[in-house]
Amino acid sequence: MHVFTKTTYLLNHIEGLKPFPKIGFVPTMGALHKGHLSLTETSLIDNDITIVSIFVNPTQFNNVEDLEKYPRDLQKDLELLENFNNKIIVFCPSPKELYQGTVASQQFNFEGIENEMEGAFRPGHFDGVGTVLSLFFNAITPNNAYFGEKDFQQLQIIKKLVEIKKMKTNIVGCPIFREANGLAFSSRNARLSIEAKKASSFIYHILKNAKDNFGIKNASEITEESIEAFKKNPLFELEYFIIAETKTLKTVNEIQPSKKYRAFIAAFIEEVRLIDNIALN
Ligand code: PAF
Repeated sequence: MHVFTKTTYLLNHIEGLKPFPKIGFVPTMGALHKGHLSLTETSLIDNDITIVSIFVNPTQFNNVEDLEKYPRDLQKDLELLENFNNKIIVFCPSPKELYQGTVASQQFNFEGIENEMEGAFRPGHFDGVGTVLSLFFNAITPNNAYFGEKDFQQLQIIKKLVEIKKMKTNIVGCPIFREANGLAFSSRNARLSIEAKKASSFIYHILKNAKDNFGIKNASEITEESIEAFKKNPLFELEYFIIAETKTLKTVNEIQPSKKYRAFIAAFIEEVRLIDNIALN
């Protein structure tokens, strides 16, 4: 497995490959889990080479403490990838190397979807995501890039990013990977106690319940009931439960049969912020 920290060395290596390969890209912030490995597996099937980036992007954190506490274990990540498949290239640049100067966000207009949910609760977050992915996409020019649907809003934002910037990379959304109890895999789960991990199946339970009731009850009823259920669970602090249309990500109360909807949750347990979502129709 090749590991690069410098963009020029990575590009030289790729240019030396004959014939020039079809490139798959799996951007990550490390603390790799089965969700990341499944994205990598999909990329390995679709492409000649797969670049996995490991980079905790400072500009997408609106909270310094959250950035400091973000789990990091590069050695373990490299071991996981090494055992998993030797055709992977790992790219783990420093912030200075990737940003080539000031580590700061550009500002983006993603036609409003950046202001919903995560955008509303984490100001500047999607500017940071847009900035770091523009840097990666411009440097690596991947044919395909893979993202999990757990960060569904992020996935929609990235599709908008390549559209707005007229980039050639095809954005591939992949299904959410869950623990046996329904908890969505996330790097942040590494910060949870065993008890909290068990208790966090509650998030999926609420989402499943929303799905089961969709079409039977209206969206505002489901929303109220879900918020009530969180109020009764002392382990959680709910940030939002929202039913939104999948294109605009605007909260809805009335459903139109021709449109697609998802339920979204952000909640804290043991001061760890977890997000999850489910397709309702
Ligand atoms: O989803 C993530 O881990 C990050 O937001 C990403 C896409 C790697 C950008 O830093």
